Amino acid sequence: MLDVQKIRKDFPILQREVNGKPLIYFDNAATSQTPQQVIDAIVDYYSNYNANIHRGVHSLSQEATDAYEQARLKIQKHFNAKQSHEIIFTSGTTHSINLVANGFSSLLKKGDEIIVSALEHHSNIVPWQMLCERTGASLKVIPMNENGDLILSEYEALLNKNTKLVFVNHISNALGTINPIEYIIEKAHAIGAAVLVDGAQSCPHLKPDVQALDVDFYVCSAHKICGPTGVGMLYGKEEWLNKLPPYQGGGEMIAEVSFEKTTYAGLPHKFEAGTPNICGGIAFGAALDYMNAIGFENIAEYENELLEYGTAELQKIEGLKIYGTAKEKTSVISFNVGSIHPYDIGTILDKMGIAVRTGHHCAQPIMDFYKIPGTIRASFMFYNTKEEIDAFITALKKAIMMLS
Ligand code: ALA
Repeated sequence: MLDVQKIRKDFPILQREVNGKPLIYFDNAATSQTPQQVIDAIVDYYSNYNANIHRGVHSLSQEATDAYEQARLKIQKHFNAKQSHEIIFTSGTTHSINLVANGFSSLLKKGDEIIVSALEHHSNIVPWQMLCERTGASLKVIPMNENGDLILSEYEALLNKNTKLVFVNHISNALGTINPIEYIIEKAHAIGAAVLVDGAQSCPHLKPDVQALDVDFYVCSAHKICGPTGVGMLYGKEEWLNKLPPYQGGGEMIAEVSFEKTTYAGLPHKFEAGTPNICGGIAFGAALDYMNAIGFENIAEYENELLEYGTAELQKIEGLKIYGTAKEKTSVISFNVGSIHPYDIGTILDKMGIAVRTGHHCAQPIMDFYKIPGTIRASFMFYNTKEEIDAFITALKKAIMMLS
């Protein structure tokens, strides 16, 4: 089991007050907090070896290059990719998805079909709609049920010889549903379609094995996993990454340039034009070190306890409705209370030092399904405690009294 009080000391921000009250940070699905170990990696980079990478013979450049490439190896190992050049550094999940969507522009044609799920974040809907507009392909949607589970029989009915791509999230950011991606991948592969899994919400809670999953593309952002914003990764099977054309042109992604003809670099550089977020990549590696030292099994077990406790306590509140009651869920609880607007509750909770997210969570189709404008979302990480949940419940009851 993990020692949560010891862990909390690693996070300087958890010691601060907000509006005169100790901070209770329950907006982890939007971004996680940063441990001192990761902050130290960032300070160390800018204090000691800030330089551009892959470009200089001087020592600083070589140190920075080594650290950046070490981070790539850590990511490869973490996700169990076969080869390090199957890991592409990006600015985050959205960038990774757009890179793949852009690449498929030349591989799809009118009549082809793309499948997404009803549980997607806008970032795993809009790039595919744009791809459909460019290519004439059409978008199909796996529907969801009232619990927030995907209806798998409907998924199977959507699959046919025209299906080229399937895009699903591993975990829904709005409801916390853990999707059966093994099954989704197996069925897609059976008809020859490729699968991209959006891991933005899963990577903080579990450790995906891309080879065991046999997934074609897996994407995530560092800032959800105790790393910094502005950096993320795309895992792609080598054969797929070789098929996709470069996403952006610039320095670093070329083999040779002349005004007559340019040839491109091999993987991973073909997709990494321009000076990357060097410090961010190194800090991403440090964040994975940090989380792996705690252990993802310990993290999942503890966060599951928080989820069960928080759900039970919230269900005791009269008029409160939880959205997303899938059997397989992570530590995200979306809810509303009667007809009170989520923003009003969120604003009062903030006055009491409690950070939650309110609104549609960039997943408007889910809100449309439930016919609501949005929800209040409390999302827990391994550094949260049951005592914080108790304080949240007390503050929530106060807010409800004030607004009723
Ligand atoms: N996608 C992030 C969230 O769910 C920002 O809050």
